[in-house]
Amino acid sequence: MASEPTRIRVTGGGDYDVIIGGSLEGQLIAVLPSSAARVVIVHTESVAPIARQVVEVVAVAGKVPTVIEIPDGEAAKTVLVAAACWDKLGAAGFTRSDLVIGVGGGATTDLAGFVAATWLRGVALVQVPTTLLAMVDAAVGGKTGINIGAGKNLVGSFHSPVAVVIDPSVLATVPVVDHVTGLAEVVKAGLIRDPVICDLIEADPAAAVDPASELTVELITRSVRVKAEVVSDDFREAGGLGEAAGSVAAMGRSSVGREMLNYGHTLAHAIERAEGYRIRHGSAVSIGMVFAAELAGLTGHLGEAEVVRHRRLLTSLGLPVEYRQDRWPELLESMRLDKKTRAHTLRFVILDGIGRPVILTDPPAEILETAFRRLVLTTGA
Ligand code: GLY
Repeated sequence: MASEPTRIRVTGGGDYDVIIGGSLEGQLIAVLPSSAARVVIVHTESVAPIARQVVEVVAVAGKVPTVIEIPDGEAAKTVLVAAACWDKLGAAGFTRSDLVIGVGGGATTDLAGFVAATWLRGVALVQVPTTLLAMVDAAVGGKTGINIGAGKNLVGSFHSPVAVVIDPSVLATVPVVDHVTGLAEVVKAGLIRDPVICDLIEADPAAAVDPASELTVELITRSVRVKAEVVSDDFREAGGLGEAAGSVAAMGRSSVGREMLNYGHTLAHAIERAEGYRIRHGSAVSIGMVFAAELAGLTGHLGEAEVVRHRRLLTSLGLPVEYRQDRWPELLESMRLDKKTRAHTLRFVILDGIGRPVILTDPPAEILETAFRRLVLTTGA
């Protein structure tokens, strides 16, 4: 893609640009820190051709590249893989002024970010996300981490990159299923903050699922803008603390803060655990957003038409909106025990109208179950 790039500024935890479009080589060479003599490129086998392009750019810039290949998906996010990376940094004589580049999907950018955050207490990081999910969510905002036996992302750090370089043309090389499930996070961005995203998808869902469409570039740009605004306001996810239990805290956009990015994620995380992480994150988020919409409907925050809109939007993209009903007790327990809940109080991001996230704390058990029982609809309308 050779069009003029769009630059979106992220502030709050170290200022940087997310650069969308233009040539990957051209954008990358411009963001390599002049101080970096050595560059480690962390990638998976599936994006080796893109990693090779990155290595060439690094070499042309007169820096010494070291390539680290890590396993695909969540298998990369372990302390053993991180330790293997630290060993390679040590062997390469990696200093505080050097640079880590993460090339891949969300698991790769999380792991590369974690390695950059922890080596010598933090070295520079450039993210080159190659999946839609990583472009619009994982690679932007500075969250890094690994999984441990007790749960996903329980060990990590906030560590902002110095730049995120997005070349939408690389999406053509990613399996279609990854593109479609990544769209769940795009829909989320629309529902929580930029309803034009929903309008655009509704007008042309076929273009939305086509990685090569112009609409895809616009959806990436709008979703990154949403993420950039939210994390710039509340980098460390401190907003939304202190509302009364048992209430809907209609606190307005800014005070809900970064937690709004968890729209649909409370149930989604429980579903991912129940499925042993064999379900894709975006699929679980899609189901979780319909659940959140039903919760909002039952508590008088969304009208029926808006709940139906959630279903129609997601099904038009081929995303799931139903879930097995026999799993409810297990899912409820899992949500209650989720280590990310605050003091074991159940919290849900719901919408008080499209584009207006609020926090619902400790809703009554029967409302939760009623919302879940509605996830058996089969018509999508
Ligand atoms: N993926 C949620 C966040 O970045 O806060």
